[in-house]
Amino acid sequence: MFTVEKIRADFPILTQQINNQPLVYLDSAATSQKPQSVITATERFYTQQNANVHRGRHTLSEQATSAYEAARDKIARYFNVQSREIVWTKGATESINLVANGLSQQLDKNSSIVISPLEHHANIVPWQQLAMKTGASLHVLPIQSNATININACVKFLKSVKPTVFAITHASNALGNITNLGPLLRTVDEFNTITLIDGAQSAMHLQPNLQSLDCDFYVFSAHKMLGPTGIGGLYGKYERLNSLLPNQTGGEMIESVSLTHSTFRDAPGKFEAGTPNIAGVLGFAAAIDYLNSLDKVAVHAHEQMLFSYAMSKLNNIDGIKIYSDIDSNIGTICFNYKDEHPFDIATLLDGYGVAVRSGHHCTQPLMTHLGINGSVRASFAFYNTVQDIDAFIKALQESIALLD
Ligand SMILES: Cc1ncc(COP(=O)(O)O)c(C=O)c1O
Repeated sequence: MFTVEKIRADFPILTQQINNQPLVYLDSAATSQKPQSVITATERFYTQQNANVHRGRHTLSEQATSAYEAARDKIARYFNVQSREIVWTKGATESINLVANGLSQQLDKNSSIVISPLEHHANIVPWQQLAMKTGASLHVLPIQSNATININACVKFLKSVKPTVFAITHASNALGNITNLGPLLRTVDEFNTITLIDGAQSAMHLQPNLQSLDCDFYVFSAHKMLGPTGIGGLYGKYERLNSLLPNQTGGEMIESVSLTHSTFRDAPGKFEAGTPNIAGVLGFAAAIDYLNSLDKVAVHAHEQMLFSYAMSKLNNIDGIKIYSDIDSNIGTICFNYKDEHPFDIATLLDGYGVAVRSGHHCTQPLMTHLGINGSVRASFAFYNTVQDIDAFIKALQESIALLD
């Protein structure tokens, strides 16, 4: 059974006081908090298991290697794909760069890349760079003025561009809006388009079945899924994945090396040059175990209840403007109060122990699209409570009173 109090006891940081107030952590879209089991798994690696992987024949090294590869199996099962289709990276940013750089010889001036205005900079800049390198044209999906997607208009657009590459987020980090990917991906299927889904925000909240989603690439970061920072991954449909050029070369990714020539391993090995973040991978595996242990239906219902409750409370405050889509959302609210600077609101909230994000959220084009410079963002996870929302709203009302 899902009991939020029991869940919270697994997250040591949540008992902290910040500015002499109980911590109200509403910044899980930036990074999630970590359960004790993840912290313990990372520590256990250094205290009991530390050895390099894929190298030694001694017991510790063999144990580290099998734990490292078992973690790959675990994340593959989480997304319902094959282990050889998972590459470890530093996170979503590195994964997108890996794909964009890896495609550099597959695109030319006749190619086209489609992105959307909803994207995090990590899913914009690498494609701009690829377009510059290859001469490919860069196109932007026409979304509505309130940043929601009109499927018919976007399908029509995709049919006219017939993109070589289509990269889009599964859930907006600034707004929390969930993209209805099905019709968009089905549309480009007939053009043999290479599709990349930015799953940084959806991987924990939506746990997509990547086989049924049927995208070519999907990127994710462990730290937004209860895991450590500096580790994440790339899923790639095997043939597509294996066709990419490696981003980095060196030890471990080779098949054979002479002084004048080298051959590379097949994926995923050819994308994992050098000593990886082994402790991070094991911590990530513990995070997946933790997520798997939860009642997913209850977790989802709890997150949606928190989101609706916070939405209704915010809507009752005069002068608050909300930019997030209420109908299809992972649990993130993007808002402003009159023309007050979001940094001022966030700083005042911090005085009450309430942690929210403020600024452009690495989505400057989206902020421009919405006609704002930035916003306040409150993002929820299953370890948040109704009391958290009440404390947030009370702190917001008191902050606003100070500003008015
Ligand atoms: C939607 C989205 N994409 C990409 C990223 C980049 O992730 P990372 O910083 O873990 O590489 C983020 C991080 O906030 C994100 O929210």
